[in-house]
Amino acid sequence: MALTGTRSVTAVLITGSSWFRPVPAAISNYERGAQLTRATSYPGGLFRKAIADAEPYVPGRTAVLLQQEHGIRGPVVKLSSNENPLGMSPAAERAIVEAAAAACGYPDDQSLGLRRKLAEELDVDIDNVLAGNGSSDVIYRLGAAMLELGDNVVMSKYSFNLLSIVTKMFGSELRAVEMDRYHHDLQAVLGAIDDRTKIVYVDLPNNPMGSDVADADFRRFVSRLPSHVLLVVDEAYLEFADPEYRHGTIDLIREGRNVMVVRTFSKSHGLAGVRAGYAVGLPEMIAGLAVAGLPFSVNTLAQAAAEAAVDDKDFLARTVELNRREREALCAHLDREGIAYVPSQTNFVAIDLGSRAGAVVRSLEQSGVIVRHLAGYGLENFIRVSLGTPEMNVRFIDALTRALGEPFSGIAAADVEVDAR
Ligand SMILES: Cc1ncc(COP(=O)(O)O)c(C=O)c1O
Repeated sequence: MALTGTRSVTAVLITGSSWFRPVPAAISNYERGAQLTRATSYPGGLFRKAIADAEPYVPGRTAVLLQQEHGIRGPVVKLSSNENPLGMSPAAERAIVEAAAAACGYPDDQSLGLRRKLAEELDVDIDNVLAGNGSSDVIYRLGAAMLELGDNVVMSKYSFNLLSIVTKMFGSELRAVEMDRYHHDLQAVLGAIDDRTKIVYVDLPNNPMGSDVADADFRRFVSRLPSHVLLVVDEAYLEFADPEYRHGTIDLIREGRNVMVVRTFSKSHGLAGVRAGYAVGLPEMIAGLAVAGLPFSVNTLAQAAAEAAVDDKDFLARTVELNRREREALCAHLDREGIAYVPSQTNFVAIDLGSRAGAVVRSLEQSGVIVRHLAGYGLENFIRVSLGTPEMNVRFIDALTRALGEPFSGIAAADVEVDAR
Protein backbone atom coordinates (compact mmCIF):
# COMPACT_ATOMS: atom_id res chain seq x y z
CA MET A 1 0.00 0.00 0.00
CA ALA A 2 1.31 3.38 -0.92
CA LEU A 3 1.98 5.63 2.01
CA THR A 4 0.23 8.96 1.64
CA GLY A 5 2.06 12.18 2.37
CA THR A 6 1.09 14.32 5.33
CA ARG A 7 -0.44 17.78 4.92
CA SER A 8 0.96 20.91 6.41
CA VAL A 9 -0.93 21.44 9.64
CA THR A 10 -0.90 23.54 12.74
CA ALA A 11 -1.67 21.57 15.86
CA VAL A 12 -4.33 22.71 18.28
CA LEU A 13 -4.19 21.20 21.73
CA ILE A 14 -7.49 19.88 23.00
CA THR A 15 -7.38 20.78 26.67
CA GLY A 16 -7.31 17.83 28.98
CA SER A 17 -6.47 15.39 26.24
CA SER A 18 -3.14 13.94 25.20
CA TRP A 19 -3.70 14.10 21.44
CA PHE A 20 -3.52 16.86 18.89
CA ARG A 21 -6.22 17.72 16.42
CA PRO A 22 -4.63 18.81 13.15
CA VAL A 23 -6.19 21.91 11.64
CA PRO A 24 -4.93 22.80 8.17
CA ALA A 25 -3.93 26.45 8.05
CA ALA A 26 -3.04 28.23 4.84
CA ILE A 27 -2.46 31.60 6.49
CA SER A 28 0.24 31.82 9.13
CA ASN A 29 0.16 34.00 12.22
CA TYR A 30 2.82 36.17 10.57
CA GLU A 31 0.60 36.84 7.55
CA ARG A 32 -2.35 37.61 9.80
CA GLY A 33 -0.22 40.17 11.57
CA ALA A 34 -0.93 38.25 14.77
CA GLN A 35 1.69 37.57 17.44
CA LEU A 36 4.17 34.99 16.25
CA THR A 37 3.63 31.66 18.01
CA ARG A 38 6.10 31.42 20.90
CA ALA A 39 7.97 28.23 21.70
CA THR A 40 6.80 28.62 25.32
CA SER A 41 3.30 27.62 24.25
CA TYR A 42 4.50 24.12 23.35
CA PRO A 43 3.50 21.81 26.16
CA GLY A 44 5.77 19.44 27.99
CA GLY A 45 8.90 21.58 28.35
CA LEU A 46 10.62 20.09 25.31
CA PHE A 47 12.54 23.24 24.54
CA ARG A 48 15.59 24.52 26.35
CA LYS A 49 14.60 27.46 28.57
CA ALA A 50 16.62 29.90 26.47
CA ILE A 51 14.60 28.95 23.38
CA ALA A 52 11.26 28.94 25.19
CA ASP A 53 11.98 32.45 26.52
CA ALA A 54 13.36 33.81 23.25
CA GLU A 55 11.83 36.69 21.33
CA PRO A 56 11.55 35.62 17.69
CA TYR A 57 13.30 37.81 15.09
CA VAL A 58 10.58 39.93 13.47
CA PRO A 59 11.28 40.64 9.81
CA GLY A 60 9.97 43.73 7.99
CA ARG A 61 6.45 43.50 6.55
CA THR A 62 6.24 42.29 2.95
CA ALA A 63 4.53 43.96 0.01
CA VAL A 64 2.14 41.00 -0.33
CA LEU A 65 1.03 41.35 3.30
CA LEU A 66 0.33 45.02 2.82
CA GLN A 67 -1.61 44.41 -0.39
CA GLN A 68 -3.76 41.80 1.40
CA GLU A 69 -4.34 43.97 4.45
CA HIS A 70 -5.21 47.28 2.79
CA GLY A 71 -6.52 45.95 -0.52
CA ILE A 72 -3.83 47.93 -2.36
CA ARG A 73 -3.75 47.07 -6.08
CA GLY A 74 -0.89 49.20 -7.38
CA PRO A 75 2.78 48.62 -6.67
CA VAL A 76 3.87 48.81 -3.07
CA VAL A 77 7.06 50.72 -2.26
CA LYS A 78 9.06 48.67 0.24
CA LEU A 79 11.55 50.84 2.10
CA SER A 80 11.80 48.75 5.25
CA SER A 81 14.66 46.28 4.76
CA ASN A 82 17.54 48.34 3.30
CA GLU A 83 17.49 46.42 0.03
CA ASN A 84 19.11 47.63 -3.18
CA PRO A 85 16.57 49.63 -5.25
CA LEU A 86 18.53 48.87 -8.45
CA GLY A 87 17.92 45.14 -7.96
CA MET A 88 20.94 42.89 -8.20
CA SER A 89 24.15 43.18 -10.15
CA PRO A 90 23.37 42.06 -13.76
CA ALA A 91 26.59 40.02 -13.69
CA ALA A 92 25.38 38.21 -10.58
CA GLU A 93 22.03 37.52 -12.22
CA ARG A 94 23.75 36.02 -15.25
CA ALA A 95 25.96 33.93 -12.98
CA ILE A 96 22.87 32.53 -11.23
CA VAL A 97 21.31 31.51 -14.55
CA GLU A 98 24.55 29.90 -15.68
CA ALA A 99 25.00 28.04 -12.38
CA ALA A 100 21.39 26.82 -12.25
CA ALA A 101 22.12 23.55 -14.08
CA ALA A 102 24.80 22.68 -11.53
CA ALA A 103 22.44 23.24 -8.60
CA CYS A 104 21.21 19.63 -8.78
CA GLY A 105 24.45 18.63 -7.09
CA TYR A 106 25.70 19.69 -3.68
CA PRO A 107 27.55 22.99 -3.53
CA ASP A 108 31.26 23.30 -2.79
CA ASP A 109 31.17 22.99 0.99
CA GLN A 110 34.33 25.10 1.27
CA SER A 111 33.09 27.89 -1.07
CA LEU A 112 36.63 27.90 -2.45
CA GLY A 113 36.01 30.03 -5.54
CA LEU A 114 34.24 32.74 -3.57
CA ARG A 115 36.71 32.71 -0.68
CA ARG A 116 39.67 32.88 -3.08
CA LYS A 117 38.11 35.84 -4.88
CA LEU A 118 37.44 37.67 -1.61
CA ALA A 119 40.94 36.90 -0.34
CA GLU A 120 42.45 38.40 -3.51
CA GLU A 121 40.19 41.42 -3.30
CA LEU A 122 41.05 42.08 0.36
CA ASP A 123 44.70 41.03 0.14
CA VAL A 124 44.45 38.37 2.85
CA ASP A 125 44.89 34.57 2.85
CA ILE A 126 42.02 32.33 1.88
CA ASP A 127 42.17 30.91 5.44
CA ASN A 128 41.23 34.34 6.76
CA VAL A 129 37.88 34.16 4.96
CA LEU A 130 34.66 32.34 5.83
CA ALA A 131 31.65 32.36 3.49
CA GLY A 132 28.20 32.36 5.06
CA ASN A 133 24.57 31.96 4.15
CA GLY A 134 24.20 35.71 4.54
CA SER A 135 26.13 37.51 7.25
CA SER A 136 23.35 36.39 9.62
CA ASP A 137 24.77 32.87 9.29
CA VAL A 138 28.19 34.13 10.44
CA ILE A 139 26.60 35.95 13.41
CA TYR A 140 24.67 32.82 14.37
CA ARG A 141 27.87 30.75 14.21
CA LEU A 142 29.58 33.15 16.62
CA GLY A 143 26.98 32.18 19.21
CA ALA A 144 27.07 28.47 18.39
CA ALA A 145 30.87 28.31 18.44
CA MET A 146 31.69 30.57 21.38
CA LEU A 147 28.92 31.18 23.90
CA GLU A 148 28.30 29.21 27.07
CA LEU A 149 26.22 29.79 30.19
CA GLY A 150 27.81 32.58 32.23
CA ASP A 151 29.55 34.21 29.25
CA ASN A 152 28.50 37.65 28.14
CA VAL A 153 28.35 39.69 24.95
CA VAL A 154 28.68 43.48 24.95
CA MET A 155 27.01 45.63 22.31
CA SER A 156 25.09 48.89 21.99
CA LYS A 157 21.43 48.89 22.92
CA TYR A 158 20.47 49.97 19.41
CA SER A 159 22.31 47.71 16.98
CA PHE A 160 21.36 45.08 14.42
CA ASN A 161 19.73 42.79 16.95
CA LEU A 162 20.47 39.29 15.64
CA LEU A 163 23.47 38.80 17.94
CA SER A 164 21.38 39.83 20.95
CA ILE A 165 18.83 37.12 20.05
CA VAL A 166 21.59 34.56 19.47
CA THR A 167 23.30 35.47 22.76
CA LYS A 168 20.15 34.76 24.74
CA MET A 169 19.48 31.63 22.67
CA PHE A 170 22.79 30.16 23.82
CA GLY A 171 22.06 31.06 27.45
CA SER A 172 24.60 33.87 27.68
CA GLU A 173 24.17 37.34 29.12
CA LEU A 174 23.58 40.30 26.85
CA ARG A 175 25.14 43.54 28.07
CA ALA A 176 23.35 46.24 26.11
CA VAL A 177 25.09 49.58 26.49
CA GLU A 178 23.33 52.96 26.15
CA MET A 179 24.27 54.95 23.07
CA ASP A 180 25.54 58.52 23.11
CA ARG A 181 22.86 60.43 21.22
CA TYR A 182 22.37 57.64 18.68
CA HIS A 183 26.08 56.90 18.21
CA HIS A 184 28.01 53.99 19.71
CA ASP A 185 29.46 55.07 23.04
CA LEU A 186 32.73 53.16 22.74
CA GLN A 187 33.90 54.28 26.18
CA ALA A 188 30.75 52.78 27.74
CA VAL A 189 31.25 49.59 25.69
CA LEU A 190 34.76 49.23 27.16
CA GLY A 191 33.32 49.81 30.64
CA ALA A 192 30.87 46.90 30.27
CA ILE A 193 33.56 44.31 29.49
CA ASP A 194 34.64 41.87 32.21
CA ASP A 195 36.56 38.60 32.30
CA ARG A 196 33.46 36.64 31.16
CA THR A 197 33.04 38.80 28.05
CA LYS A 198 33.67 36.76 24.91
CA ILE A 199 32.38 39.02 22.16
CA VAL A 200 32.17 42.78 21.72
CA TYR A 201 30.02 43.66 18.72
CA VAL A 202 29.82 47.01 16.94
CA ASP A 203 28.04 47.64 13.69
CA LEU A 204 29.87 50.38 11.80
CA PRO A 205 27.89 52.04 10.37
CA ASN A 206 25.13 51.26 12.84
CA ASN A 207 21.72 49.79 12.08
CA PRO A 208 19.12 51.16 12.89
CA MET A 209 20.47 54.69 13.46
CA GLY A 210 22.75 54.92 10.39
CA SER A 211 25.47 56.60 12.44
CA ASP A 212 29.19 55.89 12.56
CA VAL A 213 32.02 56.91 14.89
CA ALA A 214 35.07 59.08 14.27
CA ASP A 215 38.05 56.98 13.16
CA ALA A 216 40.26 58.36 15.96
CA ASP A 217 37.66 57.19 18.53
CA PHE A 218 37.54 53.74 16.93
CA ARG A 219 41.35 53.42 16.99
CA ARG A 220 41.50 54.46 20.66
CA PHE A 221 38.76 51.91 21.44
CA VAL A 222 40.64 49.09 19.69
CA SER A 223 43.87 49.93 21.49
CA ARG A 224 42.12 49.64 24.87
CA LEU A 225 40.28 46.37 24.23
CA PRO A 226 41.42 43.52 26.46
CA SER A 227 43.03 40.75 24.43
CA HIS A 228 40.67 37.99 25.67
CA VAL A 229 37.62 39.38 23.82
CA LEU A 230 36.80 39.00 20.15
CA LEU A 231 35.89 42.33 18.56
CA VAL A 232 33.28 41.78 15.84
CA VAL A 233 32.90 44.73 13.48
CA ASP A 234 29.78 44.33 11.35
CA GLU A 235 30.30 46.33 8.16
CA ALA A 236 27.04 45.50 6.39
CA TYR A 237 26.74 49.11 5.16
CA LEU A 238 30.43 49.96 4.72
CA GLU A 239 30.17 50.68 0.99
CA PHE A 240 27.70 53.53 1.65
CA ALA A 241 29.93 55.28 4.18
CA ASP A 242 32.11 58.31 3.42
CA PRO A 243 35.88 57.61 3.19
CA GLU A 244 36.59 59.05 6.66
CA TYR A 245 34.42 56.29 8.12
CA ARG A 246 36.41 53.41 6.62
CA HIS A 247 38.15 52.15 9.72
CA GLY A 248 40.84 49.94 8.16
CA THR A 249 39.52 46.90 10.00
CA ILE A 250 41.10 44.36 7.64
CA ASP A 251 44.51 45.84 8.59
CA LEU A 252 43.79 44.95 12.22
CA ILE A 253 43.40 41.31 11.18
CA ARG A 254 46.62 41.46 9.16
CA GLU A 255 48.30 42.73 12.34
CA GLY A 256 47.04 39.60 14.15
CA ARG A 257 44.46 41.38 16.35
CA ASN A 258 41.58 39.41 17.81
CA VAL A 259 39.14 41.06 15.40
CA MET A 260 36.53 39.70 13.03
CA VAL A 261 34.95 41.70 10.21
CA VAL A 262 31.50 40.67 9.01
CA ARG A 263 30.20 41.79 5.60
CA THR A 264 27.26 41.00 3.36
CA PHE A 265 26.20 40.88 -0.27
CA SER A 266 22.61 41.71 0.73
CA LYS A 267 22.82 45.50 0.66
CA SER A 268 25.14 47.21 -1.83
CA HIS A 269 25.27 44.13 -4.11
CA GLY A 270 21.51 43.51 -4.08
CA LEU A 271 21.68 39.81 -3.20
CA ALA A 272 19.48 39.81 -0.07
CA GLY A 273 17.28 37.00 -1.35
CA VAL A 274 20.22 34.91 -2.53
CA ARG A 275 21.90 34.81 0.92
CA ALA A 276 25.61 35.42 0.83
CA GLY A 277 27.88 37.07 3.36
CA TYR A 278 31.33 36.53 4.79
CA ALA A 279 33.67 37.00 7.70
CA VAL A 280 37.34 37.94 7.72
CA GLY A 281 39.34 36.98 10.79
CA LEU A 282 42.30 35.08 12.16
CA PRO A 283 42.57 31.59 10.61
CA GLU A 284 41.99 29.85 13.99
CA MET A 285 38.79 31.85 14.51
CA ILE A 286 37.60 31.13 10.96
CA ALA A 287 38.27 27.41 11.54
CA GLY A 288 36.10 27.45 14.68
CA LEU A 289 33.22 29.15 12.90
CA ALA A 290 33.52 26.68 10.01
CA VAL A 291 32.90 23.82 12.46
CA ALA A 292 29.85 25.61 13.90
CA GLY A 293 28.03 25.84 10.54
CA LEU A 294 25.84 23.38 8.73
CA PRO A 295 27.46 21.49 5.86
CA PHE A 296 26.83 23.07 2.43
CA SER A 297 25.35 26.20 4.00
CA VAL A 298 26.25 28.51 1.09
CA ASN A 299 24.35 27.21 -1.91
CA THR A 300 25.68 26.89 -5.45
CA LEU A 301 23.73 29.88 -6.81
CA ALA A 302 24.77 32.12 -3.93
CA GLN A 303 28.45 31.26 -4.41
CA ALA A 304 28.27 31.98 -8.14
CA ALA A 305 26.30 35.21 -7.70
CA ALA A 306 28.57 36.55 -4.95
CA GLU A 307 31.71 35.79 -6.95
CA ALA A 308 30.33 37.69 -9.95
CA ALA A 309 29.17 40.54 -7.71
CA VAL A 310 32.70 41.08 -6.35
CA ASP A 311 33.87 41.78 -9.92
CA ASP A 312 30.95 44.03 -10.87
CA LYS A 313 32.49 47.31 -9.76
CA ASP A 314 30.26 49.30 -12.10
CA PHE A 315 27.08 48.11 -10.39
CA LEU A 316 28.52 48.88 -6.97
CA ALA A 317 29.54 52.38 -8.09
CA ARG A 318 26.07 53.06 -9.53
CA THR A 319 24.44 51.82 -6.32
CA VAL A 320 26.61 53.98 -4.07
CA GLU A 321 26.18 57.08 -6.25
CA LEU A 322 22.38 56.70 -6.41
CA ASN A 323 22.29 56.25 -2.65
CA ARG A 324 24.45 59.33 -2.05
CA ARG A 325 22.22 61.53 -4.21
CA GLU A 326 18.97 60.22 -2.75
CA ARG A 327 20.24 60.45 0.82
CA GLU A 328 21.18 64.08 0.20
CA ALA A 329 17.81 64.82 -1.40
CA LEU A 330 15.81 63.21 1.42
CA CYS A 331 17.83 64.92 4.15
CA ALA A 332 17.48 68.28 2.37
CA HIS A 333 13.71 67.75 2.35
CA LEU A 334 13.68 66.84 6.06
CA ASP A 335 15.79 69.93 6.84
CA ARG A 336 13.37 72.17 4.92
CA GLU A 337 10.42 70.69 6.81
CA GLY A 338 12.17 70.89 10.18
CA ILE A 339 11.92 67.12 10.71
CA ALA A 340 14.67 65.65 12.91
CA TYR A 341 16.79 62.76 11.67
CA VAL A 342 20.11 61.10 12.41
CA PRO A 343 22.74 61.92 9.75
CA SER A 344 23.33 58.66 7.92
CA GLN A 345 26.36 56.78 6.57
CA THR A 346 24.11 54.02 5.21
CA ASN A 347 21.33 53.35 2.71
CA PHE A 348 18.62 54.34 5.18
CA VAL A 349 17.72 57.26 7.42
CA ALA A 350 16.32 57.12 10.97
CA ILE A 351 13.72 59.88 11.30
CA ASP A 352 12.31 61.20 14.57
CA LEU A 353 8.57 61.79 14.26
CA GLY A 354 7.90 62.15 17.97
CA SER A 355 4.75 60.50 19.27
CA ARG A 356 3.22 60.47 15.79
CA ALA A 357 5.60 57.79 14.47
CA GLY A 358 3.22 54.83 14.86
CA ALA A 359 0.28 56.67 13.28
CA VAL A 360 2.49 57.84 10.41
CA VAL A 361 3.68 54.28 9.72
CA ARG A 362 0.05 53.11 9.47
CA SER A 363 -0.87 56.02 7.22
CA LEU A 364 2.16 55.33 4.97
CA GLU A 365 1.08 51.69 4.70
CA GLN A 366 -2.37 52.77 3.56
CA SER A 367 -0.59 54.75 0.83
CA GLY A 368 1.32 51.62 -0.15
CA VAL A 369 4.68 52.61 1.41
CA ILE A 370 6.34 50.29 3.92
CA VAL A 371 8.93 51.71 6.33
CA ARG A 372 10.23 50.29 9.61
CA HIS A 373 8.79 51.61 12.88
CA LEU A 374 11.63 51.29 15.39
CA ALA A 375 9.28 50.61 18.31
CA GLY A 376 10.64 47.06 18.37
CA TYR A 377 14.00 48.56 19.39
CA GLY A 378 12.32 50.67 22.07
CA LEU A 379 12.59 53.74 19.81
CA GLU A 380 8.87 54.54 19.66
CA ASN A 381 9.43 57.96 18.07
CA PHE A 382 11.55 56.76 15.18
CA ILE A 383 10.94 55.33 11.76
CA ARG A 384 13.73 53.96 9.56
CA VAL A 385 13.31 54.50 5.84
CA SER A 386 15.53 52.82 3.27
CA LEU A 387 16.61 54.93 0.33
CA GLY A 388 15.04 53.87 -2.95
CA THR A 389 15.07 55.14 -6.53
CA PRO A 390 14.07 58.80 -7.05
CA GLU A 391 10.52 57.63 -7.88
CA MET A 392 10.25 55.50 -4.74
CA ASN A 393 11.58 58.31 -2.57
CA VAL A 394 9.16 60.82 -4.07
CA ARG A 395 6.33 58.45 -3.21
CA PHE A 396 7.62 58.20 0.34
CA ILE A 397 7.93 61.98 0.70
CA ASP A 398 4.43 62.55 -0.75
CA ALA A 399 2.92 59.94 1.56
CA LEU A 400 4.85 61.33 4.55
CA THR A 401 3.66 64.86 3.80
CA ARG A 402 0.05 63.60 3.61
CA ALA A 403 0.44 61.58 6.81
CA LEU A 404 1.87 64.53 8.73
CA GLY A 405 -0.97 66.73 7.45
CA GLU A 406 -3.58 64.36 8.87
CA PRO A 407 -5.25 65.39 12.13
CA PHE A 408 -3.51 63.78 15.06
CA SER A 409 -5.11 63.15 18.42
CA GLY A 410 -2.01 61.89 20.30
CA ILE A 411 0.23 63.71 22.72
CA ALA A 412 2.39 66.49 21.28
CA ALA A 413 5.67 65.24 19.82
CA ALA A 414 8.43 64.93 22.39
CA ASP A 415 11.35 67.20 21.60
CA VAL A 416 14.17 64.70 21.18
CA GLU A 417 17.58 66.16 20.67
CA VAL A 418 19.34 64.62 17.68
CA ASP A 419 23.07 65.03 17.38
CA ALA A 420 24.11 66.70 14.14
CA ARG A 421 27.33 64.66 13.83
C1 LIG B 1 24.18 45.54 10.46
C2 LIG B 1 23.63 44.31 9.80
N1 LIG B 1 24.34 43.17 9.86
C3 LIG B 1 23.93 42.05 9.28
C4 LIG B 1 22.71 42.00 8.62
C5 LIG B 1 22.27 40.70 8.04
O1 LIG B 1 22.38 40.69 6.68
P1 LIG B 1 22.39 39.35 5.82
O2 LIG B 1 22.12 38.20 6.72
O3 LIG B 1 21.34 39.54 4.80
O4 LIG B 1 23.76 39.27 5.23
C6 LIG B 1 21.92 43.14 8.54
C7 LIG B 1 20.64 43.10 7.84
O5 LIG B 1 19.85 43.99 7.87
C8 LIG B 1 22.39 44.33 9.14
O6 LIG B 1 21.69 45.45 9.11
